[in-house]
Amino acid sequence: MRFLPVLGLAGLLAAADNPVRYDKEGKLLFPDGYREWVFLSSGLGMTYGQPAGTPENPPFDNVFVNREAYRHFVKTGRWPDKTMLLLEIRSSTTHGSINKAGKFQTAARRLEAAVKDTSRFKEDGWAYFDFANTNGEFARTGTLFERTASCYGCHGKVTAVENTFVQFYPTLYPIAEKKGTLNPGFGK
Ligand code: HEC
Repeated sequence: MRFLPVLGLAGLLAAADNPVRYDKEGKLLFPDGYREWVFLSSGLGMTYGQPAGTPENPPFDNVFVNREAYRHFVKTGRWPDKTMLLLEIRSSTTHGSINKAGKFQTAARRLEAAVKDTSRFKEDGWAYFDFANTNGEFARTGTLFERTASCYGCHGKVTAVENTFVQFYPTLYPIAEKKGTLNPGFGK
């Protein structure tokens, strides 16, 4: 009996660690510390329509996921409820310090979140938020994209696992393949 309150506290602390939290208007609270989450991959200059030429400095997309969701995915090949993935888009350049060729990352331009919260987002459990960038500072709350937003034209339609682009996350894709959790019809 004496240990029960201790276990209860551990449970509460685990819940307090989850980054999926909203304000009264349903905006997503900024996930402080996301740079200490698990890094899934970077895309460089990825383009999904007909490319309009080759930009000299294509943007990098960095993808992060909260640690507890990552651990769950490694075990099961699926995302648990209250998963948050972030897409951080940064500019790139060649010119700086000793660099002579290739690209490195510079300022963050955009920060977008994908959240799985099945009790709140009834259609497929997922929702998308944008943290507005004002002169290099991201807003403290993220604004929800409507269901009609372009996000849903790709996420959930051409994604490997649920609404996520696991096909581009090289450490996760083999796990999903092995666990048989790829979306039905994916890759056909
Ligand atoms: C044309 C297809 C397309 C559209 C439209 C699209 N995305 Fe994505 N998104 C991708 C691809 C591909 C990735 C894989 C990672 C990358 O870009 O490196 C991705 C990754 C993400 C991720 C990282 C987690 C994940 O799901 O894999 C987030 C968050 C995200 N997008 C948010 C958005 C938001 C918000 C919108 C709507 C404003 C949106 N996306 C619209 C193609 C799309």
